[in-house]
Amino acid sequence: MTRVITIDGPSGSGKGTIAGLVAARLGWHLLDSGALYRLVGLTANRAGVDADQAEALADLARNMKVEFQGDRVFLDGEEVSLVIRTESAGNAASKVAAVPEVRSALLQWQRDYAREPGLVADGRDMGTVVFPRATVKVFLTASAEERANRRYNQLKEKGLDANLPDLVAEIRERDERDSNRSVAPLIPAPDALEVESTALSVGEVLARILDKVYETCPDLRV
Ligand code: C5P
Repeated sequence: MTRVITIDGPSGSGKGTIAGLVAARLGWHLLDSGALYRLVGLTANRAGVDADQAEALADLARNMKVEFQGDRVFLDGEEVSLVIRTESAGNAASKVAAVPEVRSALLQWQRDYAREPGLVADGRDMGTVVFPRATVKVFLTASAEERANRRYNQLKEKGLDANLPDLVAEIRERDERDSNRSVAPLIPAPDALEVESTALSVGEVLARILDKVYETCPDLRV
């Protein structure tokens, strides 16, 4: 079975950055599952479909033509890399992500990303629902303030508008929705390595995760 490393955690915990670094280090594939939910949110907004139209949303999710090229994301041939990274796209994503029909529409799609030599998948339910038999599971957290701060710097770097107090409020609202929904809520898998990263550098987080990966799979150590 193809090996999978799952990295779950709340919004702004640094999952995306860390997952990218782990995948690059191992030479494995990468799945940014949040991008899929962001794409469903965007498609739904554009089509005027609301979060209460479960079947219509699932149809949109099943029929999206998505292509990832490194950091770039294309939806039906149009580049949407920046559009899907805004906070409003994140919020739209978390609304459609609470719809069970949307989650089932994306389930097999996500599993199909598991290809040799291995996959690093980041999201909210990678270790609990999508890849329950993953080789290594990580749950990455940080305080809401620290996560808002990181998001602020990320958005600024991309030249996007950002306001820190709004970001803290939005992150709390999104945590609340992601943690309390009935399907695939944001919770650590019982067998996940929990890394609290508020006071850690990216390098320190990466080192902890790689230690765990090498301990579990000694053949990957170079
Ligand atoms: O990770 P990211 O912030 O891009 O995810 C956007 C939203 O998509 C999250 O707030 C969450 O509601 C949803 N999501 C999810 N399950 C995943 C990944 C993302 O519900 N595996």
